[in-house]
Amino acid sequence: MQKNYQEALNNPIFNILSEAADELNVESYVIGGFVRDYFLQRGNPKDIDVVAVGSGIELAKKVAHKLSGNPKISVFKNFGTAMIKHGDLELEFVGARKESYDRNSRKPFVEDGTLQEDQERRDFTINALALSLNKSSFGELLDPFNGISDLEDKIIRTPLEPGITYSDDPLRMMRAIRFATQLDFTIELKSLQAITENKERIQIVSKERIVDELNKILACPKPSIGLSLLHKTGLLDYILPELTALEGIEEVEGQRHKDNFWHTLEVVDNISKTTENLWLRWAALLHDIGKAPTKKFHKKIGWTFHAHEFIGSKMVYKLFKRLRMPLNDKMKFVQKMVLMSSRPIVLAEEFVTDSAVRRLVFDAGDFVDDLMTLCEADITTKNPKKQKKYKNNFKMVRAKIIEVEERDHVRNFQPPISGEEIMDFFGLKPSKEIGIIKAAIKEAILEGEIPNEYEAAKEFMVQKGIKLGLTPKP
Ligand code: CTP
Repeated sequence: MQKNYQEALNNPIFNILSEAADELNVESYVIGGFVRDYFLQRGNPKDIDVVAVGSGIELAKKVAHKLSGNPKISVFKNFGTAMIKHGDLELEFVGARKESYDRNSRKPFVEDGTLQEDQERRDFTINALALSLNKSSFGELLDPFNGISDLEDKIIRTPLEPGITYSDDPLRMMRAIRFATQLDFTIELKSLQAITENKERIQIVSKERIVDELNKILACPKPSIGLSLLHKTGLLDYILPELTALEGIEEVEGQRHKDNFWHTLEVVDNISKTTENLWLRWAALLHDIGKAPTKKFHKKIGWTFHAHEFIGSKMVYKLFKRLRMPLNDKMKFVQKMVLMSSRPIVLAEEFVTDSAVRRLVFDAGDFVDDLMTLCEADITTKNPKKQKKYKNNFKMVRAKIIEVEERDHVRNFQPPISGEEIMDFFGLKPSKEIGIIKAAIKEAILEGEIPNEYEAAKEFMVQKGIKLGLTPKP
């Protein structure tokens, strides 16, 4: 006897769906991510995809009618789909269809089809699992492509020949890699080859969707799984060429530099162990991109990447713009992290002075902890002695940051003496001397010559003004 999975459908919403399907006398199934995640025991999915062998829109209307609270139904006539939001659930309805795609876009020509035809045009066998909703077969599993055994074997496989599935919708190449990363699954070899062959078709996919998948890969516990698959298939050359440019080790006169691509992937994995912050993960991904265009070999000092942090932070803007990512404070944060990414390293290598730490806190502001997290993740040396030394040094820098900040409060520096007070004291109109005095006070505080306090700053202001030839107002 066939196993029944009614327990997957214990949310009362499925009884309503079942009633509606029977009243319309239309075969209906829940399909896709909901079913996959039930078998993977991945929490309680809120997105429910329903396929009707008939009109998905009619089924949606019937369901909406039966639901309390008169929920809003959005109908997309051109696509033959409808959507209902009900509490925290999002129900998506579609009629079973067979499709073929226009080669130059992701827009399908749609024709009505059977359930099996609908299942075979889906992306992966694990996403083509369907559970019946009609009363007579409620909870029965329809798995014509052995999705369950692929779930058990942890395999990403396409229902059709992979070349067809990926060429139909090239976004699926990224989805395959994203699912492999999220679920820690292996992409079937044939599929991986098909992705490699179809890689250039990623260019017809919108940037927003590509970034959406990239973000999902970066949000995984071990993003390097996906990043190395993107690299292996050649997709990364189209999406983030700045990263593939970092690959390789050059040797001149016996001097080598590290492979900054594989180093970057390690840094991203490291940082993903300590933070959920997506933008900090982006910063880790991009922290070395300036190294490709700045790489030089000097006979005396060997390999250098002069000002790569500055060049890298400029590249962040161009990259975000090209990928239509937000050019807002998130982008500025990533730029700042890239720009400052070497600062704590210099500190950790040398004797840490208070003034160097004060300058770091002053420049990094509220992001000083994130910057330290990035730098700690940047330690990828395989030499255990060095590894320990760098980690300890960063611990010391962190401790110093707390100590200096408690005493000097330079994190969100507010000048202790205002421009008005300087003008008033020396009887000045707005002039360049005021700027000079203000900058000198700030410098003296950061250098530790005076504490960040009003009285000391005022005394310093008087002396500085006199040196500049000013005289206090009588
Ligand atoms: N699907 C597909 N090809 C795509 C996108 C989606 O065949 N390019 C099908 C799959 O059957 C998928 C279903 O549509 O399971 C729903 O898609 P979506 O909601 O985007 O993804 P889920 O599989 O639900 O997974 P997730 O929510 O993690 O993205």
